[in-house]
Amino acid sequence: MTMRKPLVAANWKMNGSDALARELTAALATVNLVNVDVLVCPPATLLHTLASTEQCLLGAQNLSQYTSGAYTGELSASLLTEAGVRFVLVGHSERRTLFAESDLVLAEKMQQAIAHGLTPVYCIGENLQQRQQEKTGQVLAKQLAAVYASHPEFIAKSVIAYEPVWAIGTGEAATPEQAQQAHAEVRQQLAQYDSKAAATVRILYGGSVNSKNATELFGQPDIDGGLVGGASLNAEEFLHICQSAK
Ligand code: G3P
Repeated sequence: MTMRKPLVAANWKMNGSDALARELTAALATVNLVNVDVLVCPPATLLHTLASTEQCLLGAQNLSQYTSGAYTGELSASLLTEAGVRFVLVGHSERRTLFAESDLVLAEKMQQAIAHGLTPVYCIGENLQQRQQEKTGQVLAKQLAAVYASHPEFIAKSVIAYEPVWAIGTGEAATPEQAQQAHAEVRQQLAQYDSKAAATVRILYGGSVNSKNATELFGQPDIDGGLVGGASLNAEEFLHICQSAK
């Protein structure tokens, strides 16, 4: 059986503060989380507060598809790396919908991340209408193909986050069965490109994860941890979620 170390990631989105960053690192220091990797993705202005801590891994929420140059307001992979960042979210549904990031742009962002040694957390997931129309498998396959069909070698260098859009910020998490089914589907899809990497890649669940539902979700065979939004803004709650990882 393949052993995958669980990963629990916090996505603060455009929330949080320097005080929360300090509170979280202090809280993480009180526990010994040897069997789980903890990743925090704060807003870019707070990266420096977390850069020197040993309590968690550091992630950015976005990166530019360009290497450098006249791109006002953008942050390149190398700037992030220099700031101590090791992971980066790519393709979060909010980036896809609110900022119109296309599959093409996301594939370029994945290339930038990997070329600079960052581990991308590639976010995928169907919206409510697509689920109701039973198109979940198709949607996931398309989002995965956009990156991995031409670069199967990226699978081993990625983390995948399955985040059904209808579960994000709604308080309505996918049931453990729904999530497991989608994760198994994702792993199967990836196996078409590289079966060995598909067995070892970590697939996180995201969408209304909290300290009450985390244990059951993380207990599913193909769920290797979570990507946590709202509940990661409370240090104590996030700590409980991290402790729920198998
Ligand atoms: O990236 C995490 C996210 O989109 C889930 O947010 O608030 O439902 O945990 P939330």
